[in-house]
Amino acid sequence: MSDSSSIPRHIAIIMDGNGRWAKERGLPRRAGHRAGAESVRECVEACKELGVEYLTLYAFSSENWNRPAAEVTALMALLERFLEEKADELMKQDVKLQAIGHLDRLPDRTRAKLNAAIERTAQNGSLTLVLALSYGSREELVEAARSLATDAAAGKIDPADIDGDLFASRLYTAGIPDPDLLIRTSGELRVSNFLLWQISYAEIVIFKKFWPDFHQADLFEAAKEYARRHRRFGAL
Ligand code: FPP
Repeated sequence: MSDSSSIPRHIAIIMDGNGRWAKERGLPRRAGHRAGAESVRECVEACKELGVEYLTLYAFSSENWNRPAAEVTALMALLERFLEEKADELMKQDVKLQAIGHLDRLPDRTRAKLNAAIERTAQNGSLTLVLALSYGSREELVEAARSLATDAAAGKIDPADIDGDLFASRLYTAGIPDPDLLIRTSGELRVSNFLLWQISYAEIVIFKKFWPDFHQADLFEAAKEYARRHRRFGAL
């Protein structure tokens, strides 16, 4: 990892397999999510060590609202605990927290804790941890299209001026560079409505293991695999 250009600036992760990890052990699903939160902590540390600038985690999708109420409640409680307990650590490690998604749908208490942690870490700078919460990429794209159409109808923009940059500026991720590396655990070969616009040129690395079994060494391994690949962005 000595050549800085071979280090991904932005890593995005689809953390999959918490439920199956718990099932294998005869534990409730929430135990899998709890173990998954520990993998999150390890990945933040590994990204800091590598000099990665952005780490985006798919923590709760728009489709996850359809899970049984008890599991949704457990996930929100876990997120709240993470935000409360890890805020000191994020400060110590100079990590800035951001969130993308339909955040209005989060329970008031969860949103308040999220906003408090975002405000508290706003001046940090070495790594930005982006939590995708109540996130769905199609929703994000539709909202961007709607906002441009509204501005065009009001005469604020000329439809002819709409280009990739203007479009990207209306996404939740405005100002955040596109992911260079997308990691997914549990062996599934799907992107599951995650950052569909933003991952257009991302290198994808899939791990068979479940998310709670994903440790620092795995993140380093993914970064090494990324460095081995030759990115051409469609050119020769
Ligand atoms: C996928 O496993 C994981 C999730 C839906 C939630 C991810 C949440 C965490 C890792 C918990 C903590 C996160 C933070 C940021 C504190 P799954 O339940 O879909 O697993 P399965 O496919 O085996 O059922």
